[in-house]
Amino acid sequence: MTARLGIGAMLYSQAVPRPALKFQEFIPLAPYTTFRIGGPARFFCEVEGEAEVEQAVGFVKERNLPLFVLGGGSNLLVSDAGFDGMVLRVGGAASKRDGREGESVLLEVGAGENWDDVVLYAVNRGYAGIECLAGIPGDVGGTPVQNVGAYGQEVAETIVQVRAYDLETGAFVNLDYEACRFGYRRSLFNAEARGRYIVTAVTYKLRPGGEPALRYADVKRHFAAQFERGEKPSLRQVYDAVRSIREQKGMLAGQGGPDGRSAGSFFKNPVVPSTALPQIAVNAECSPEDIPRYPAGDGMVKLAAAWLVEQSGFHKGFAMGRAAISSRHTLALVNLGDATAAELIALRDAVMNAVNRKFAIQLEQEPVMLGFSSTR
Ligand code: EPU
Repeated sequence: MTARLGIGAMLYSQAVPRPALKFQEFIPLAPYTTFRIGGPARFFCEVEGEAEVEQAVGFVKERNLPLFVLGGGSNLLVSDAGFDGMVLRVGGAASKRDGREGESVLLEVGAGENWDDVVLYAVNRGYAGIECLAGIPGDVGGTPVQNVGAYGQEVAETIVQVRAYDLETGAFVNLDYEACRFGYRRSLFNAEARGRYIVTAVTYKLRPGGEPALRYADVKRHFAAQFERGEKPSLRQVYDAVRSIREQKGMLAGQGGPDGRSAGSFFKNPVVPSTALPQIAVNAECSPEDIPRYPAGDGMVKLAAAWLVEQSGFHKGFAMGRAAISSRHTLALVNLGDATAAELIALRDAVMNAVNRKFAIQLEQEPVMLGFSSTR
């Protein structure tokens, strides 16, 4: 569970010293989220480097404040009342460091770096392993937390170390792959040890000169003509293809318009026993073969939540007040402009209740909630 690579400490502690930390008060959080929703944080602080993390934690502990660590705000719904505690933003002065380990490259990146920039950096150097994770909004620090995944890759496949401040012991630790306990959209950080760690750097193990992953149907389809000519797409072509597919689905980082004011998939794809398929087919009035699904091991299947939502009567563009379902993908809830968190939640509940009524499946929300009395 501890220092194997031992390079994290160097990267993050070398941030250039700055003047005294600023603890700002009553800072509106909406601009820090991709939903563009949410009231103010009682305290807000942006830290760079390990010494500043410790200083900010000292401030929080002295005042016994609740603490929330903010990344890119791309998987977050903040309440209209805001958050009566400290929001800590881990800034990006730390940057990247490439090291070698045999045939592999160890790319160590500070938590505050923009994720898509890191993917492009790797792709441009010919490092394979994260090319299908192009165009995902958010920062590096969030990638191990929810085990970001898309188009046939999961970030956990490449993570060899997460450096983090442990609020329980008051020390920095290097957690290896095993210690992170990754699963589908899950890790130690958002499950059993939720709230315990402040991630400050992540090390990805990549393959220089490696082939791009071509696992997902949408990506393979994109290159159909190229395959017919016997040509293999490059890492950069896969990066561009994934960005273009994400754009068509309204899921591209930085995408404008109402479809861009979302938190990506609002619900996780539910995993159910394959024995449940016949009843699901009856409820959807289709044949079991027509149910979109992916094998999930141990007699389980992962269903497409977007399909369940559509079958339950919610279609692209459906609006309730200023909250809506994306016009490009049924799994994204969007802010049409000035939507409140309450409006988003009313739509969420309507969708979840409808899916539960029709299929007896309880959808699970993906975005983290901040400033609500319960976390879900
Ligand atoms: N579908 C619909 N309606 C739609 C969109 C999709 O019915 O509007 C059905 C179709 O049957 C389609 C299936 O859902 O074949 C799967 O759709 P898609 O390929 O878009 O993937 P997804 O399962 O909806 C997941 C991730 C995305 C990730 C994509 C691609 C989750 C919760 N979501 O979405 O991740 O980009 O696969 O790998 O696992 C995110 O987590 O925020 C996210 C965007």
